[in-house]
Amino acid sequence: MTKLCVNVDHVATLRQARLTDYPDPVTAAHLAELGGADGIVVHLREDRRHIQERDLELLRKTVKTQLNLEMALTEEMIGIALKYKPDMVTLVPEKRQELTTEGGLDVLSNRDRIREGVEKLREGGIPVSIFIDPHEEQIEAAKDVGADIVEIHTGRYSDARDPKEREEEFERIKKASFFAKDIGLVVSAGHGLNYTNVKPIAALRIYHELNIGHSIVSMAVFMGIEKAVREMRRLINEAILMGG
Ligand code: PXP
Repeated sequence: MTKLCVNVDHVATLRQARLTDYPDPVTAAHLAELGGADGIVVHLREDRRHIQERDLELLRKTVKTQLNLEMALTEEMIGIALKYKPDMVTLVPEKRQELTTEGGLDVLSNRDRIREGVEKLREGGIPVSIFIDPHEEQIEAAKDVGADIVEIHTGRYSDARDPKEREEEFERIKKASFFAKDIGLVVSAGHGLNYTNVKPIAALRIYHELNIGHSIVSMAVFMGIEKAVREMRRLINEAILMGG
């Protein structure tokens, strides 16, 4: 069964907007687990715009499911990962000006540096996922540098307004995901998934995890995070059992 892993970054975004000590992403993570989350995801960005090191430290102690740390591949972040030992790390590209992670990691052009980083994390006992665009060459490169998992970027599918473009992006994701599985990688997906677009993706029944943040935290403003997670879980289950 595909796991639903909930990214709580934007609970921290709300807190950082006023530099208060609430709402706390640690509380959100606990309630998300009560709502059925199979894992908690946080992205500790270099500019610390939402999640702080303090959050990671507390989440490491309190998350009962699994903790996935999204991070850029820098010396500082490798040190932090090895210190707190999340259950897994997801390597993402990071640009200061972006609103959110815009594309997958370019493994093809940075093979040696990424291989070195993956080795350090794996030697520290941390499985590594690489966030990647749905391109076969990038997926092959991710396997070559030693990744255990690839997370296929669903952002372009999610953002597509034109039905034809959406269908094309969906087919690209589908092809890339089955390719990744065929070459022996564990395959997850995420970015931009919400209550109206998740079903076709979940219905592929290939994903180990779906990582979803912004839409769940947004829905939580109206119905609370426990219910928001439960509703997303229900849609994923429905898609898996009955198709998209
Ligand atoms: N997966 C990765 C690698 C991400 O960077 C993000 C955003 O932090 C997500 C999934 C979740 O995306 P969203 O917040 O759009 O659901």
